Amino acid sequence: MPAFTHHLFVCCNQRTLGHPRGCCDPEGAEALRNAFKAEVKTRGLGLLVRANSSGCLDQCEHGPCVAIYPQGIFYGHVKIEDVPHIIEETVLHNRVLDDLLISPECLNNRNCEHCRSQSPT
Ligand code: FES
Repeated sequence: MPAFTHHLFVCCNQRTLGHPRGCCDPEGAEALRNAFKAEVKTRGLGLLVRANSSGCLDQCEHGPCVAIYPQGIFYGHVKIEDVPHIIEETVLHNRVLDDLLISPECLNNRNCEHCRSQSPT
C-alpha cells in the first residue's frame, strides 16, 4: 500500500467559552473534520488522503485551522464551504490557497497582530 500523499489534521480542539485564545471547534461536533472525511470518500481518495481530527495546532487565533502534511501547509479560518476547494486545489493539484494560508508572519507567532488583538487587556 502506498504512503498517504496528504495527511490533513483538522483541529477539533474545544475550550471553555470566553477563553482568550478561542478554539477551532466550540461546538465539539467535528463538523469540519467530517466534511473533509466525506469529501475524501466521495472522491475516492481514501487510500492516499487521510483527514484526522487533531488537538490544538497552536494557531488558535487563526482558527478553525487545518494542517496538511507532508507539505507543511497551515490554513486558517477554514469553513465547511472551503473543503471541496481545498481538496480540489491543494490535494489534487498541489496549489496553495493564498486566501486561506496562515501567513509566515503569523504562523507560530503569538505576537502577530491577530493574536495581540485577542489577548485580554
Ligand atoms: S484550538 Fe485549534 S489551533 Fe488551537
